Amino acid sequence: MSIQHIAIIMDGNGRWATQRKRPRTLGHQAGVKSVRKTIETTVKAGIPHLTLFAFSSENWNRPEKEVSKLMDLFLSSIQKETPELNAKGVQLNFIGDLSRFSDKLQIKMQQAAANVPENQRLMLNIAVNYGGQWDILQAAKQCCEKVIESPDLLPHLGVDEFASHLSLADQPAVDILIRTGGEHRISNFLLWQSAYAEIFFEDVLWPDFDENHFQSVVDRFLNRERRFGQTSEQVNA
Ligand code: FPP
Repeated sequence: MSIQHIAIIMDGNGRWATQRKRPRTLGHQAGVKSVRKTIETTVKAGIPHLTLFAFSSENWNRPEKEVSKLMDLFLSSIQKETPELNAKGVQLNFIGDLSRFSDKLQIKMQQAAANVPENQRLMLNIAVNYGGQWDILQAAKQCCEKVIESPDLLPHLGVDEFASHLSLADQPAVDILIRTGGEHRISNFLLWQSAYAEIFFEDVLWPDFDENHFQSVVDRFLNRERRFGQTSEQVNA
């Protein structure tokens, strides 16, 4: 069973820092190290798509200082990591409503995500100001516009056509969805794209997530039976 796409809700940075009596932003810095390790592990495992939830549309509600520190961290991480990612054959892609970020950050994201044809080993999607409901709504709006222009299209509007307007439209569906930090919810992440994902809720806090945790999830995934609505007998036939 090949794994094409892993998506991760990186939760627990704040608690990791609080446990050490340090400011929450230190947890996010430690989280960046985990991001780096996880990218390496994904490349090593030959898994071609990785999507990380870095900032949800709801995260703007955090204290202003934390949001501003997170923005600084995104900016500095992008600047620092992009050459290394290019060297590893990693293509960056940002998904979400990027218009709410500063011009400076938007330009940095565009530059970092510039298409590098040699970067074929891993498509790394970073979800920022992303929400699954937003994604579905923006796809619905695009479809509405098309139908207003050509009403005859409506009866032919199917799942595949609709999905072609979503973020990650040209990428495989999520096989494995991991949430670290012990909470058991999807928090408005890739709602459509995870329709048949196998979900793993892990207690480990994101800064402590390492290659062994990654491998443990992959091993458990390989032991699961994915039925996609069929019966076990059909799958095994
Ligand atoms: C959730 O932990 C984490 C975030 C909201 C930020 C995630 C950001 C990073 C891992 C660093 C930057 C990433 C990139 C791709 C450069 P939390 O703060 O909700 O933790 P808590 O539940 O313990 O409070």
